[in-house]
Amino acid sequence: MKVLFATSEMYPLIKTGGLADVSGALPQALSNLGVDIKVILPNYADLKNEHIDTKLSIGLVEILGQNVEIFKTRLINSKLEIYLVDHPTFSARKGNPYMGPDKNPWHDNPDRFGLFCRAVVALSAGGFNEDWRPDIIHNNDWQTGLIPALLSESELPKKIFTIHNLAYQGVFDRPTFERLGLPWTLWREDALEYWGNMSFMKSGIVFSDTVTTVSPTYAEEIKTKEYGYGLDGVLKNKGKNLKGILNGIGEDWNPATDQQIDEHYTPNNMGGKYNTKRIIQKHLGLPENPNTPLIIHIGRLVEQKGIDLLIQAIEALKDRDIQFVILGTGENRFEQTLIKLASQNPNKIAVHIGYDEQLAHRLEAAGDAFIMPSRFEPCGLNQLYSLKYGTIPIVHRVGGLADSVIHSDDETIANGTATGVLIDFLDVPAIIWAIDYFIKLYENTEVLSKIQINGMNRQHEWSISANEYKKIYLSLAQEH
Ligand code: ADP
Ligand code: GLC
Repeated sequence: MKVLFATSEMYPLIKTGGLADVSGALPQALSNLGVDIKVILPNYADLKNEHIDTKLSIGLVEILGQNVEIFKTRLINSKLEIYLVDHPTFSARKGNPYMGPDKNPWHDNPDRFGLFCRAVVALSAGGFNEDWRPDIIHNNDWQTGLIPALLSESELPKKIFTIHNLAYQGVFDRPTFERLGLPWTLWREDALEYWGNMSFMKSGIVFSDTVTTVSPTYAEEIKTKEYGYGLDGVLKNKGKNLKGILNGIGEDWNPATDQQIDEHYTPNNMGGKYNTKRIIQKHLGLPENPNTPLIIHIGRLVEQKGIDLLIQAIEALKDRDIQFVILGTGENRFEQTLIKLASQNPNKIAVHIGYDEQLAHRLEAAGDAFIMPSRFEPCGLNQLYSLKYGTIPIVHRVGGLADSVIHSDDETIANGTATGVLIDFLDVPAIIWAIDYFIKLYENTEVLSKIQINGMNRQHEWSISANEYKKIYLSLAQEH
């Protein structure tokens, strides 16, 4: 059974969010389980070449009048093979994979990712000089959504499509559909057509044998009007072929071994965590007080993550003895408000606008709590990292957050399952309530330490999730 994993980002080569973490860890975990799997992604200008071996060309193919080359390489220190699809719209464009310096999506995104999809299809059909041909193609998010449609005429390879975020659908107008050279048979309501436009995401869902998403609760939520973004009906139609599998935690997120943090620690010896808190307070210019609760937030500064509500809650709490640290990039309006808030309250609020992988690790290690008031969250990774780092997650009860954090009340504290604080109905007062609730837990060191250790001992290894994907692959292979 050979599997090709198609993705638009992969840690440590290129990352904008959780999809990169998943693509960096899941194929490796599947390979460790004996699956013959290779990854394919675009050869971006900003791809971190120091993490891969020499790139060898496996050929050049003309697709829609454009020359597309594929390189083959390997991650250093790993046997996992990687194909890189090369075209100037990827390899001659620096910066974010999806948007220009003005933060607007690249105007030709459908063309770029349409070409990527066609290159994947050509490779899988033996179009480049490559003997290895997949029995299964595992696609991820809208950027890969045309692959199943382009392969819909043939039963093989089998197609699996993972939705990481239904809010980003790759919807484009009809002239784009025409420009992409897609057959008219695909312009149907039960195919790519979506309210007079075309949708890459819908294409991925409709034409795949199995659709998965990244948590069981999100798999249910997306079948409702509220979270379905117009695709709830299409998703309901998938029946048993829509499944939710919770993401795992990559090996480099472990406070006992993490190369990027200031001091290591374990559930039995938490000293390193408390030292790290002091080091980070100093680093960020906050008063070095071990007793002041340090609440962190890391993420894309967009409405999905509830950052607008969090900003209002922080404003309301700024005179309390609490420190907040926010690391993120995103919409200008949120970046500007946060910078202003921090400059007005330098002893309480520290803000770092930018993308900083190491700081993300150091903050997870330093924090007392991690706040994630997402409006919706397909899985969410930072709450998982927080559990592992003994940093109590304060989260909205949706999607993967609901599936990974257990609210701390008398019962769960007594039976040893409590791991965090859950908000049932999200608004600003509810966030303030949740922070107050956390502070009460924080003040009882015995209870706090129990909750921390419960979280640190939770099992979220990627091998567990990878086993679920392997079962799907096996059943698809058997179907054939
Ligand atoms: P999403 O994929 O929706 O952005 P996830 O929680 O699944 O959310 O994953 C986000 C990933 O990106 C995490 O690994 C998180 O640490 C990382 N991340 C987000 N913003 C930043 C940032 N500004 N600096 C460093 N890492 C970040
Ligand atoms: C998306 C989701 C996030 C999920 C990640 C990886 O970006 O927003 O919740 O954890 O994909 O699956």
